[in-house]
Amino acid sequence: MDRIQVRGGNRLNGQIRISGAKNAALPLMVASLLTDEPLTLASVPRLTDIAQLGEILAGLGVQIEQQPQATGSGSIGHTLKLHASTIASTEAPYDLVRKMRASFLVIGPLVARCHGAKVSLPGGCAIGTRPVDLHLKGLEAMGTEIELSDGYVIARAPKGLHGARISFPFVSVGATENLLMAAALARGTTVLENAATEPEITDLVHCLQAMGARITGTGTRTLTIEGVDRLKGASHTVLPDRIETGTYVMAVAAAGGEVELTETRADLIEAVIPLLRDAGVSIIPTAKGIKVSRNGAHYTGVDVTTEPYPGFPTDLQAQLMALMCTANGVSRITETIFENRFMHAPELTRMGADITIEHQTAVVRGVERLRGAPVMATDLRASVSLIIAGLAAEGETTVNRVYHLDRGFERIEEKLSAVGADIRRTKG
Ligand code: EPZ
Repeated sequence: MDRIQVRGGNRLNGQIRISGAKNAALPLMVASLLTDEPLTLASVPRLTDIAQLGEILAGLGVQIEQQPQATGSGSIGHTLKLHASTIASTEAPYDLVRKMRASFLVIGPLVARCHGAKVSLPGGCAIGTRPVDLHLKGLEAMGTEIELSDGYVIARAPKGLHGARISFPFVSVGATENLLMAAALARGTTVLENAATEPEITDLVHCLQAMGARITGTGTRTLTIEGVDRLKGASHTVLPDRIETGTYVMAVAAAGGEVELTETRADLIEAVIPLLRDAGVSIIPTAKGIKVSRNGAHYTGVDVTTEPYPGFPTDLQAQLMALMCTANGVSRITETIFENRFMHAPELTRMGADITIEHQTAVVRGVERLRGAPVMATDLRASVSLIIAGLAAEGETTVNRVYHLDRGFERIEEKLSAVGADIRRTKG
């Protein structure tokens, strides 16, 4: 298994190019199931999650061609042409779905286009139980019979889907995406109330609109979808990855230095910028993206609670915790989206951090400095928090189980070493 070794203490200086968003690219790839014409997606990051979803889609009959990215992008990203001229199978098996929860998104488009699907339940994962009841209740409201059998969801809508008014009891990114895609081909009008407003949802809406879908309320908590008989092919560029952007902001804040993050936008991390400015980090929007710097001065602890967009994202909670380990004073970090997303805390403690977990809140008392140690990556965002801690620590940190990182951070060690970090991968 590969490991990443980081020797802390180097300041970071230069530019880092931000990739397309993993969590936008995944549902966009699934949207290809809605049409028999090709869907071309540019700026898709090269990640194992993307390859894995490609495998699932190929099993359903989608032909996928990879094309190199436009000039000037170096080895970052690629263009995918996805063509579901016919659906060869409507079954997504356990072995593939269990590896990545986002693959459950195929159920809505398959039922909409083929009037039936058999998709494995994704099961729990390290960060929590993560049920899919909202996805299923929404499909039922649209005329689908749902049967659970041997770990599979068998969905049947012999007469096709019809529109419905669906009010989510709480915000779910995945359920909003699944039902948005299903509703695009349903008969009549669907209204999704208390829908997610994450930028990745808006990106999906823009792509579906380019495919001919009729959707209003973009970016608000109420999405209205007038179903159409068929959708057509389109070309779409995936939006920049706001979680990767925020991650590198925190890496520079932790290590010190000055880095411009390019091909990204400040508005994507609106909840993060004031918080880090309060802590003492300089963040300035530029023509190409964002410039982040911390030169010498120390930074102070902040309190934060994770929330659905536009609040502070759960996918940046671990990275913020790593940064706060060496802040002046006490930070209180409250996680409200997932019930078990503090697995990085004991690993950070191994590096000398002072963290106490009180129910949903991690109380982080800043220490003078962290010390490098062997640590274990437990999930995607937890892994990168250990790299951030390693950049600021004294001595060497070895992060084991880095396959988690490869799921969501494109060429991370190349991007960080190009700005001066002492980081390398050991194959094993
Ligand atoms: C998406 O997951 C992201 N994944 C996650 O990113 C992200 O952490 C999460 O949204 C929240 O922002 C992708 O976009 C591929 P949810 P998703 O449905 O859609 C509960 C990463 O690191 N829930 O908004 O699965 C659920 O258990 C990943 O890139 C139900 O109870 O998240 C959670 O507590 C991790 N029933 C909460 O809602 C349901 O039917 C929010 O989940 C659906 C969700």
